[in-house]
Amino acid sequence: MKDTRHLTLGIESSCDETSAAVVADGRTVLSNVIASQVPTHKIFGGVVPEIASRHHLENVNPVIAMALGEAGVTLDDVDLIGVTNGPGLVGALLIGVAAAKTIAFAKDIPLVGVHHIRGHVAANFIADPALEPPFLAFVVSGGHTHIMEIRDYNDAVILGRTRDDAAGEAFDKVARVLGLGYPGGPLIDRAARGGDPHAIEFKRVLLEKDSLDFSFSGTKTGVLNYMNREKALGHTVSVPDVAASFQQSVVDTIVTKADHALEKTGYRTLALAGGVASNSLLRESLAALCEKRGVRFICPPPVLCTDNAAMIACAAYYKAGAPKTPRGGTNFDDLRLDADPNLPL
Ligand code: KG4
Ligand code: ZN
Repeated sequence: MKDTRHLTLGIESSCDETSAAVVADGRTVLSNVIASQVPTHKIFGGVVPEIASRHHLENVNPVIAMALGEAGVTLDDVDLIGVTNGPGLVGALLIGVAAAKTIAFAKDIPLVGVHHIRGHVAANFIADPALEPPFLAFVVSGGHTHIMEIRDYNDAVILGRTRDDAAGEAFDKVARVLGLGYPGGPLIDRAARGGDPHAIEFKRVLLEKDSLDFSFSGTKTGVLNYMNREKALGHTVSVPDVAASFQQSVVDTIVTKADHALEKTGYRTLALAGGVASNSLLRESLAALCEKRGVRFICPPPVLCTDNAAMIACAAYYKAGAPKTPRGGTNFDDLRLDADPNLPL
C-alpha cells in the first residue's frame, strides 16, 4: 500500500559528498545517507573536481538505494524528487541532476531543482519543526558567507555577503598554512581547544559602518604573514595559539555582524547554517549573543550543517508548493533542468 505521507527523495552532489535522503511531509527525516569523499581528497589538500565527479558517479545509485532502504520505502512511494542543481562544481552537480532526472522520467515522479544555499537554510526547518518564516539566517560554508532575510519559504533576500573568501575557505587555507590538513575547519576547531584565543590579535575586518558584508582574506593573510615572520625570526610557533586566535577573530567578526543585523532588522529568530555552523565557538558565541538579545537561536546538528540531502529534500518540498497542496504541489521543473555552477538565488 502507498505510504500516506508526502515523501521527498533528496539528492545532493554539489561538492565532495554524495548524499540521498527520504523526508516525510517536508520535515521528518526518514533517512539521510552521506558518502563523504574526504579521505580521497585529503591527500591533495582540497577537492579535486574531476575525482569528485568520478566518485559521485560510482556512489550515486548505491547511496539512493541505501536511503530508500533505510527509510523502508521504494520509488513507488516517492511523491517528489529534489536535487541540488547549483551552485557548486559543475561536473559534480551534473551527476546528481542526471540521476534525479532519470528516476523522475522512469518513474514519472515530479522533479524540483534546489539552490544549495536554500537547502542549507532549510536544515533549520528540520532542526526546529515549529520554525516558520520570517527570520534571519546566517549561511556560513566553504563557498558562501551570507546574511539572509528569510521572508517566506521561497522568498529570501541577501542582506550581506563576503567580498572575498568565504569563512570556511579561510579556515581551510589557514589550516593548510598551519600544516593541520584538510578539511581545515574541524581541525582548527579541535586545535584551538588547546590554545589561547588572545595570544595573537588578528584583524577583525568590519568594513563600512553600516555594512553587513564580510571580508576574511585580510585575516587569512594576517595569519600567513605572522607565520612567515615568526619562522624568519627562528621562533617556534604555537599552532594551538594561532588556531585559537584566528578562530576567535572570525567568530568575533560574525558575532559583531549578527548583532548589527539583528539590531537593523528587528528579527527575533536567528538561524545558523552551512558547514562552518558546526564550529563549536561560533555556536556558543551566537547562542550567547541571542540569549543576551532575547532572540531565539536555531542551529541544526552537525549532520544537517554539512552538505546533506535531507536539507535539499526539505527545500524541495517547500519550493514545489507542497504545503498548500499536501499531495504534491505544482511548482515543478521538467527534464530540461540543468546543473548551473553559478545558479543565482
Ligand atoms: O557547507 P559545507 O559542508 O560545504 C559547502 O557548501 O561549502 O561547508 C564546508 C566547510 C569547509 O570549509 C569546512 O572546513 C567547514 O565547512 N567546517 C568547519 C567546521 N566543520 C566544517 N569550519 C569551522 N569549524 C568546524 N567545526
Ligand atoms: Zn554546502
